[in-house]
Amino acid sequence: MGFAELFGYQPTGVWSAPGRVNLIGEHTDYNEGFVFPFAINRRTFAAIALRDDNLVRVSSSFSPVIHETDVTNITKTDDNDWAAYPFGVAWSIQQLSKVTATGFDCYIESDVPVGAGLSSSAAIECAVSSALNDLWNAGLDRRALARAGQMGENEIVGAPTGIMDQSASLLGETDHGVFLDCRSLEAKPIALGFAEAGLELLIIDTKVAHRLVDGGYAARRAACEAGAAVMGVTSLRELSTDDLTKAKELLDDVTFRRVRHVVTENQRVLDTIDTLANQGPRAIGELMHASHVSLRDDFEVSVDELDTAVETAMRHGAIGARMTGGGFGGAAIALTPVELISEVTLSVMAEFEALGYAKPDIFAVSPAPGAIREI
Ligand code: GLA
Repeated sequence: MGFAELFGYQPTGVWSAPGRVNLIGEHTDYNEGFVFPFAINRRTFAAIALRDDNLVRVSSSFSPVIHETDVTNITKTDDNDWAAYPFGVAWSIQQLSKVTATGFDCYIESDVPVGAGLSSSAAIECAVSSALNDLWNAGLDRRALARAGQMGENEIVGAPTGIMDQSASLLGETDHGVFLDCRSLEAKPIALGFAEAGLELLIIDTKVAHRLVDGGYAARRAACEAGAAVMGVTSLRELSTDDLTKAKELLDDVTFRRVRHVVTENQRVLDTIDTLANQGPRAIGELMHASHVSLRDDFEVSVDELDTAVETAMRHGAIGARMTGGGFGGAAIALTPVELISEVTLSVMAEFEALGYAKPDIFAVSPAPGAIREI
């Protein structure tokens, strides 16, 4: 079933946007720090047509239900379910532009795995926001659309997430990562050179479901804000590794470790950009692994399945591996020489089976272009 079968007429066009994977820079975006994700070759497609009235109807290949709302009165409700993502951007584009919105029909298909920490939600937001921006003539640029996605997610979905995922989904380029300063929102495409170096980035989806609306993510964010307040700064971005001695004196142990993760992670992102430019992608593995250790021990957002995926992949030849995304489940990444892909894959599978974990999904992704109009 597609748009035409469901709604009985043809859509005006189809827009698509990719999921993303974060190479390094985790839990730094909402601290105004640095991130370095890339858009992946898994996409969400949104077929859309404007209506003459205020009705919004959205449906998808993954759920037959048609969700409805009034475009002039979009609110956060439990009934929205996954439709909170398209509804959210329909709301936020109206907040950020002077547009007079009309209703629309929308049908979504996606091959971005859900719940794996690969931003299936940002892919929906960015496909729909790109479409509405064009069809409503809202005139927002890509940075503003990233902000629209984040606002919709914060206010209509109710997840207090940062701006990384939408930025990657909108600004991604083939074979490049998106180096984003989350304070200035300045974004630079950086060549990754994985293929030339004989490397592939493996995703190890642990199948441990993670949900950002659950309490852990918000609690980490609150700890960062509390730490910044005690340190007398507006965001942890303003601290450097030199400030950690003072932070240790002033903060309780848990808050100190949350702060140390963010401060050292920002530095690791800068070091990764530097290392890539000067030594190439085979040299960034240690930084990736150090990021994982910090997320596991200081930020405490990893789970046993992620730790097992990371350590097993490293033992069997991955150059670097780490959990990616918000944590509490989801996926790990392993930067792996092409000739060791099957060894790493089979070893992780075997280790998960031996430990009685669910069977992971393991596949390679490559850096792909951001949101576009398809037809
Ligand atoms: C989720 C959020 C992002 C970011 C990451 C952690 O993916 O949506 O904004 O905070 O977690 O780096």
